[in-house]
Amino acid sequence: MALLPRTAARVRADSLLDGLTTAVICVDQNLRIAGLNSAAENLFGVGRKHAVNELLVQAIPHFAPQLPRITQALSDFAGFIERESRLSRHGEPPITVDWRVTPFMDGKLRGLLLELLPLDRHLRITRDEWLAAQHQASRELIRGLAHEIKNPLGGIRGAAQLLEREFPDSQHREYTQVIIKEADRLQNLVNRLLGPNRLPKKTSLNIHEVVEHVRQLVQAEGVENITLLRDYDPSIPDLVADREQLIQAVLNVVRNAMQALAARPGTRGIIQLRTRAKRQFTIAGVRHRLVAQIDVEDNGPGIPAELFEKIFYPMVTGRPDGTGLGLPIAQYMVHSHGGLIECASRPGQTIFSIYLPFEPGSTP
Ligand SMILES: Nc1ncnc2c1ncn2[C@@H]1O[C@H](COP(=O)(O)OP(=O)(O)OP(=O)(O)O)[C@@H](O)[C@H]1O
Ligand SMILES: [Mg+2]
Repeated sequence: MALLPRTAARVRADSLLDGLTTAVICVDQNLRIAGLNSAAENLFGVGRKHAVNELLVQAIPHFAPQLPRITQALSDFAGFIERESRLSRHGEPPITVDWRVTPFMDGKLRGLLLELLPLDRHLRITRDEWLAAQHQASRELIRGLAHEIKNPLGGIRGAAQLLEREFPDSQHREYTQVIIKEADRLQNLVNRLLGPNRLPKKTSLNIHEVVEHVRQLVQAEGVENITLLRDYDPSIPDLVADREQLIQAVLNVVRNAMQALAARPGTRGIIQLRTRAKRQFTIAGVRHRLVAQIDVEDNGPGIPAELFEKIFYPMVTGRPDGTGLGLPIAQYMVHSHGGLIECASRPGQTIFSIYLPFEPGSTP
């Protein structure tokens, strides 16, 4: 761990520890953190620099309710194991873990080794895989249907145009115009269902350029009573990706947030655009050393409970004029970059997170 001398063997041990999915925290006899691995940093959202030498419960308040047991383990020199324990800190959703506390003695030094296996992530990975398979099946069905609708549509529109030429009087024109307009509307829908009809064009790009572009687009649409805040991590390296697709994906998510806020006049709507670099992140079973995370957070009403499980399915909408395609399209585009899109929502806070890996070679 980071406190110990960096001999060659130690460096290897450090990188091994950082490669673990299990979060490992080492505390000394005063319950100050002596070291922690990357999984622990990610699990509790703390940086190593900040946490080392801090009191455990101060750096990671999740442990505050567990303090008596931890102190006891140290004084009795007896560890414990607990399954499916929920660790939480004020204002954040709890983390479910299996954890083990083991006392150790290093010369005269006593301490505790805390190993925590996060279960939420495990549950989520298998659920992700299951959902991905479901989505794939429904996408194929929809694409098949969309093709069937698309072919006769051209014929219907063409025939209406011919009729218009045959009967130029205004009474018939009214009907043919209805046919043409409705055929165009259907065409538009079908095109969205079929998705992008070009191959992805991947280039090296900065994720902030994409997010800023989206911010400017929605701001140009005129957003009354909605404030767009930015919280960017400038250290995120460039990514190899299709710029247009990423813009589309982020735009669909931000537009939803705006629509949810607009449906709630009177309250001051806030959308936060946040970027982060996240280390050691698993997407559909593939472990990535580094991923870019884009969060879109709004303080709107939240996603209705009955829709929540289904929002990534096509044609699922909670809006009277919605087509229910924005999120499945965003998901498709993020998946085609080997990424992941997920959502957490409750009244007053909805967060969509897009994760994009840096090594496209290791994507599934
Ligand atoms: N930030 C959000 N807050 C509240 N509800 C949301 C949010 N984002 C999505 N939803 C819900 O999820 C539904 C599905 O979103 P999706 O973007 O797929 O379709 P849509 O917005 O209804 O239609 P489209 O995007 O095709 O115009 C929305 O209709 C809305 O009910
Ligand atoms: Mg939408």
